[in-house]
Amino acid sequence: MNKLRALVTGGAGFLGSHLCDALLGEGWSVVVVDNLLTGRAANLAHLQNDSRFELINKDICEPFDPGKVDFVFHFASPASPVDYMMHGIPTLKVGSLGTFHALDVAHKYGAKYLVSSTSECYGDPLEHPQKETYWGNVNSIGPRSVYDEAKRFTEAVTMAYHRYHKVDTRIVRIFNTYGPRLQLNDGRVISNFMKQALRSEPLTVYGTGNQTRSFCYVSDEVDGFLRLAKSSEHLPVNIGNPNEFTILECAQQVIKATGSKSKIAYEPLPQDDPKQRRPDITKARQLLGWEPKIQLEEGLRLSLDYFKNAVADKSTATR
Ligand SMILES: NC(=O)c1ccc[n+]([C@@H]2O[C@H](COP(=O)([O-])OP(=O)(O)OC[C@H]3O[C@@H](n4cnc5c(N)ncnc54)[C@H](O)[C@@H]3O)[C@@H](O)[C@H]2O)c1
Repeated sequence: MNKLRALVTGGAGFLGSHLCDALLGEGWSVVVVDNLLTGRAANLAHLQNDSRFELINKDICEPFDPGKVDFVFHFASPASPVDYMMHGIPTLKVGSLGTFHALDVAHKYGAKYLVSSTSECYGDPLEHPQKETYWGNVNSIGPRSVYDEAKRFTEAVTMAYHRYHKVDTRIVRIFNTYGPRLQLNDGRVISNFMKQALRSEPLTVYGTGNQTRSFCYVSDEVDGFLRLAKSSEHLPVNIGNPNEFTILECAQQVIKATGSKSKIAYEPLPQDDPKQRRPDITKARQLLGWEPKIQLEEGLRLSLDYFKNAVADKSTATR
């Protein structure tokens, strides 16, 4: 039996809670530190009777000490456009102060460390697809900058702790991920479309719908995190599905998966909305032997029951 203990900041969120499941599945003990700003204790309710699991309700922008841990997975941060626009300053704080505190825990206990960064670091990219070596095209003062710049700063602090304090760090640049536990009202493409389709409302497409995105199913994404955690790569690694869809194609796939009669409604493009986003995953393939297995059609099918329940559940429908 593995006696290792992992800290997951932001473990009550969408990705963090799936990561907790995967770590427990591999025999780890897990302590989550989360202030439930955008996450939900319900995402972890199934773990409450597991003696290897603990949830601490705390804001990591204040210094914290969860006791000895062997690995720090730093996932705390509002992540969806709706959340980081609503919580702009907390987003900047958790990316900066929160990251210092998570790294301080790793430094204190000699723990390994992996931080969730984002494809948003590439901004509205001038290179396509995006390789890890691309430095990005980010507007530092636009409305999305509270998230994009927080994450770029997160990467900078992480590399500094690696260089100056020799912390054994890893950085994963996550591209759009979806699946069960994705918040219903978080403004992300899949949750928006699923909700609208299941309510027989028109699916809102911004601009012409020809902007592209790639969508990774959550189990593939978490598999990438675990492989990176076991590697000794300190520079960023993209983990995402390189299969690219226009937003319009995605809307059509959701309509098909749900069997909905919904139509498409067009609205103006928000400021700084990236036109294209697709990971180059050559590095993950070569270094980690990772690639996604679940494509959009199957992933939507696997997510359908969750979204049906979430649409029916008044407590999640209001978030
Ligand atoms: N889901 C995606 O597609 C995606 C894409 C790129 C990057 N990411 C990154 O992955 C991480 C997790 O994203 P998610 O989709 O699970 O988001 P989420 O909002 O579901 O989860 C984030 C969690 O962090 C917690 N949190 C926020 N501020 C905190 C603070 N100050 N102290 C303690 N806890 C705090 C929230 O309560 C929540 O439980 C984030 O760092 C995000 O930037 C996600």
